[in-house]
Amino acid sequence: MTQHVTTALPADATPDDSARREWWREAVIYQVYPRSFADGNGDGMGDLPGITARLPYLKRLGVDAVWFSPFYASPQADAGYDVADYRAVDPMFGTLTDAAELVREAHALGLRVIVDVVPNHCSDQHAWFREALRAGPGSPPRERFHFRSGKGEGGHLPPNDWESVFGGPAWTRVEDGEWYLHLFAPEQPDFNWDHPAVHEEFHSILRFWLDLGVDGFRIDVAHGLVKAAGLPDIGHEEQVSLLGKQSVPYFDQDGVHEIYRSWRRILQEYAGERIAVAEAWTPTVERSARYLRPDELHQAFNFEYLTTGWDADGLRDVIDRSLRAMNAVQAPATWVLSNHDVVRHCTRFADGDAARGLRRAKAATLLMLALPGSAYLYQGEELGLPEVTELPDEVRQDPAFFRSTGQGGRRDGCRVPMPWSGQRAPFGFGPAEGGPSWLPQPAGWRDLTAEAQDGDPSSTLEFYRRALAVRREHPALGAGRDVEWLDAPEGVLAFRRTSPRGTFVCTVNLSAAPVVYPTPGTVLVSSADVTPGATATNLPADSTVWWAA
Ligand code: BGC
Repeated sequence: MTQHVTTALPADATPDDSARREWWREAVIYQVYPRSFADGNGDGMGDLPGITARLPYLKRLGVDAVWFSPFYASPQADAGYDVADYRAVDPMFGTLTDAAELVREAHALGLRVIVDVVPNHCSDQHAWFREALRAGPGSPPRERFHFRSGKGEGGHLPPNDWESVFGGPAWTRVEDGEWYLHLFAPEQPDFNWDHPAVHEEFHSILRFWLDLGVDGFRIDVAHGLVKAAGLPDIGHEEQVSLLGKQSVPYFDQDGVHEIYRSWRRILQEYAGERIAVAEAWTPTVERSARYLRPDELHQAFNFEYLTTGWDADGLRDVIDRSLRAMNAVQAPATWVLSNHDVVRHCTRFADGDAARGLRRAKAATLLMLALPGSAYLYQGEELGLPEVTELPDEVRQDPAFFRSTGQGGRRDGCRVPMPWSGQRAPFGFGPAEGGPSWLPQPAGWRDLTAEAQDGDPSSTLEFYRRALAVRREHPALGAGRDVEWLDAPEGVLAFRRTSPRGTFVCTVNLSAAPVVYPTPGTVLVSSADVTPGATATNLPADSTVWWAA
């Protein structure tokens, strides 16, 4: 088998693998949403040089890898998930040289780099789609997409009853009368994965970024590429959402697995344990595990965990089922609470009380980081950022907002630019005080900036830093495959994790009142103030404590 050696980077720039084999099994991976992380040139939009300058912050935070949402050439109809050129950086974000520099700097700091790949659909400005439009009905360029005649008199009705995830029909009619399929916005035509050219093109795109030195890919809509033969009607009226669990002829079809087997073979040609993580919204964790069989992908996001509320029984159940399903295919479980598509967990858990939301969010994070496997953090959660719920309609950009129902335009509120420093917006997001930011930040974020929290032991930022540092050092955290549940009163979860070099206990009080619990050891990290007693301890309401036992 060929061993590709990264050419764009000095050989010594790749993080040392010998020290941490299969690094991805227990990695903490931080999601950067490029347009909202750091704006280096002051145009109000985040960019790659801005991110590069902030990499030391991520190093100090203590994460292992950074996943970047798309920064490719794109008309931004869906914030970059509509890609016009998979091998180019959008000028809004910088240049290819900036991307190489970002990878190089990250590697120099020992951080791995995961980039997004968007294979289900492209932009309607992609060269292939433009060519397909020009070439007309029945032409070979149209076969790379799903073009069909309509139904009804003169073909004026869509070819089937599929709905777009963003609302409205999943079909748009073009001037010559044919319709094309788009599971998302009309500006995002779906590729036809029955066509060999589509396979070849994505193999080449993967190699392009692997050659540039990236350590892996996050696969957008990984469950959507293959559609059931004949594109059959769904036959029911209910709206299918990205977060949905419905079984539909365009999601989670068995044919996707062969695609990922071929991708795995490509990843394995490269030195340095390159990986892929699936964004696959499947009906069950068992269905997700099918993407992680040994010859397929490395990880899949655990959306069932993300969508479980602050509830002891629900969490224990999803943790058990996830570990069982992933262990069956020898894949690591993953855990995630927030990303750029969902309401931030601080706000989800608040039930109308912001202080309670933050308390629970910190407790939930500490629980997540105690579980075996890999954890994903979303930028800003380490600052305790809440969802911004008061955005005026005129600044919103989420296509879902303009296309009704589905996710109801909720996705802009978790994408508001990061507050870094200072007293006035954009709080160090861009270089100039009072300068622009593509979405406005609330004035109250002056108290949440990284600068305001740095060095304050009671801040959310220092809490994350502490937790990640302890996780890195303690051998029983992250690694391994199982948790050993301990007896605990109602509303409390307690589990032990043992490694040859130390035993660790995690207690989580999900109830609204303190609960007395036998003291398991000495406190390593806690999400709330806790005073351990000699034999029993009052676990504060909505708190997680890590104990060295
Ligand atoms: C991404 C979304 C995007 C959609 C279409 C998703 O799952 O995370 O942000 O809108 O795919 O590409």
